[in-house]
Amino acid sequence: MTGNENPYLPELATVTKVIEETPNIKSFQVVLNDPEKMKNFRFEPGQVGQLSIFGVGESTFVINSPPTRMEYLNFSVMKAGEVTAALHGIYEGDQIGVRAPLGNWFPYEDMKGKNILFIGGGIGLAPLRTLILYMLDNRADYKDITIIYGSRTPPDLCYKDDLKEWEQRSDVNLILTVDNEYPGWEKRIGFVPTVLKEEAPKWFETIAITCGPPIMIKFVLEGLAQLNFPPESILTTLEARMKCGIGLCGRCNLGHKYVCKDGPVFTLKQLKELPSDE
Ligand SMILES: Cc1cc2nc3c(=O)[nH]c(=O)nc-3n(C[C@H](O)[C@H](O)[C@H](O)COP(=O)(O)OP(=O)(O)OC[C@H]3O[C@@H](n4cnc5c(N)ncnc54)[C@H](O)[C@@H]3O)c2cc1C
Ligand code: FES
Repeated sequence: MTGNENPYLPELATVTKVIEETPNIKSFQVVLNDPEKMKNFRFEPGQVGQLSIFGVGESTFVINSPPTRMEYLNFSVMKAGEVTAALHGIYEGDQIGVRAPLGNWFPYEDMKGKNILFIGGGIGLAPLRTLILYMLDNRADYKDITIIYGSRTPPDLCYKDDLKEWEQRSDVNLILTVDNEYPGWEKRIGFVPTVLKEEAPKWFETIAITCGPPIMIKFVLEGLAQLNFPPESILTTLEARMKCGIGLCGRCNLGHKYVCKDGPVFTLKQLKELPSDE
């Protein structure tokens, strides 16, 4: 944790950089004000934080920089409502509150020696980014890394600098796609699940990790099933509304699981075992 004894009390932090990723997504580089707490801050890829804007409220965002790069914590925020709109209104040097790290993480140790297939859409690249960067910083531990990433239009693609870098690497297979033709776009056109089917990656010794809009996830999961990926080899990270973030308020339950404590990362096998009416 950020070090406060009261788990509801946010740690004061400074936004050191604001990056405009897309027309409705901004990234915030955040540093805890207490240098000792920043130095000792530990988290795992996939864990989230609650960011608060004083007088407005608190919302959940994944820490999308990896634990291997600790100069700052990166959060990306898509404008959705009150808190996210307020976050879009802050500038470099402004103060926010941070409660982190919360939740579970991607079992990256168990993925060692395997091929990794990332499938993301829109802001869904945020949770994948932390793991991608972590794996690139520990590249020898993993076999082939394939990233299928899409958005509605090219300006809606997040992390354009990362995408440029990954595209140039010979040890990453990056496939970018947008939904429809767009002036100047010469790469793939088509929905992410369609591109997945066209690429038809092999399931054997491969872990698939997907995050994106619910409709994309639905068809990606169908596509992976057709490609014979077993449910235990498919991971996703869920976005249930959260309040306490520490398993106390019952706001984020999914059957008998709490997304904030047992998740947000689940295998498809775990999700299939949950009661279907909840
Ligand atoms: C584990 C987790 C990780 C997340 N990571 C990110 C991230 O990295 N980047 C990011 O931009 N967003 C992320 N989200 C979603 C983010 O928390 C919500 O968009 C945010 O809470 C909206 O807050 P708001 O006050 O601006 O919206 P509100 O004013 O509360 O709501 C605005 C509208 O958005 C809907 N909404 C709000 N929260 C959610 C949600 N969680 N899921 C679906 N609909 C919602 C509301 O029903 C309403 O229609 C994550 C959510 C979870 C649970
Ligand atoms: S947010 Fe309170 S139990 Fe999960």
